[in-house]
Amino acid sequence: MSKTTVAVLFGGRSTEHEVSIMSAMNVISSIPPEKYYVLPIYITRDGRWLLYEGAAENIRGASLEKIGVNCIVSPDLSHGGLLRIVGGKARPVGADVVFPVLHGKNGEDGTVQGLCELAGIPVVGCGALSSAVSMDKAFTNLIAKASGIAHTPYVVAHRNEMGDTAGILRRTRKLGYPCFVKPANAGSSVGVSKAGGKRELIAALEKAFEHDRKAIIEKAVAGRELECAVLGGDEPSASPVGEVISAAEFYDYDAKYHNDESRAIVPADIPEDKAEEIRAAALAVFAAVDGSGMARADFFLEEGTGRVLFNEINTIPGFTAVSLYPALWREAGITREELCDRLIGIALERGRRD
Ligand SMILES: Nc1ncnc2c1ncn2[C@@H]1O[C@H](COP(=O)(O)OP(=O)(O)O)[C@@H](O)[C@H]1O
Ligand SMILES: [Mg+2]
Repeated sequence: MSKTTVAVLFGGRSTEHEVSIMSAMNVISSIPPEKYYVLPIYITRDGRWLLYEGAAENIRGASLEKIGVNCIVSPDLSHGGLLRIVGGKARPVGADVVFPVLHGKNGEDGTVQGLCELAGIPVVGCGALSSAVSMDKAFTNLIAKASGIAHTPYVVAHRNEMGDTAGILRRTRKLGYPCFVKPANAGSSVGVSKAGGKRELIAALEKAFEHDRKAIIEKAVAGRELECAVLGGDEPSASPVGEVISAAEFYDYDAKYHNDESRAIVPADIPEDKAEEIRAAALAVFAAVDGSGMARADFFLEEGTGRVLFNEINTIPGFTAVSLYPALWREAGITREELCDRLIGIALERGRRD
């Protein structure tokens, strides 16, 4: 049987560029070599695509900018998908499937998925629509609400409203303090702040608007942070539930990736009926956004009330050493190799069918 060629995209024009590199190194080393041939493609911060053709394991620790040849995915179906460009000539590489290990904008948001769909290359994970909807927290919340999935109260604000901060303060009064302010489209807590009063709220909005023209302001939830992984095609399954415990006041970028005192507990020490409720909610959110392949859905378990509140869904969850997506499936008895194999299989199957 000939091997399937998997183009793994990583890096990217996103604030989560570094996280993507960490995730991709784990994905690349987990794709079973007896079945697949891996083509790592590094996307630089300024958006150049560099295809690396040597042994995949050699890119670990390599100076990524210096390796690789230019490549593109052509939306023109007659071009043959992924093309390498050498000496001004473009030649098809024959990628059977693309595995985007890109977090955040320009990768997890449907842009790359749409490009691959035009090029006729199956993509691992969610398609263009569900990726876009899941990336934008304002849209995700709307869809979750329409599907009866509980979420903390929130308000959407746009950058051009900053001329009328009194108006924003009026609209957000019902949320009270503290509240959380986040760019609608970002990830890894980049641009997220907790605001304890009016002045902090305006400063937090200014910070969020550095990353996006749209922000969401949410009532703060006091409680535990629980996460559930989803995997599958038409009949997805939900993993055991995990808990993240932040070393900082909230789970900000440093607490996620640089603070050894942040911890993940798998499985979370919660009653079985709550775990079941969270698994059902994760599948409901996945279905609501029309998800496919994979996602990690994040929730709060509210202190006092015991309510499960949806926070966000990540369609390209982290695969770093501290990431929960692979750890939750490991708990369910699925190794990282099996996980990658299944994800690629689901994408190929969907490519044949849709
Ligand atoms: N409404 C909220 N109440 C309490 N904590 C929150 C709230 N929203 C976000 N947080 C904290 O901020 C972190 C990052 O916010 P999140 O919505 O998950 O954005 P990101 O996409 O950047 O991960 C969460 O993991 C949590 O610690
Ligand atoms: Mg999050």
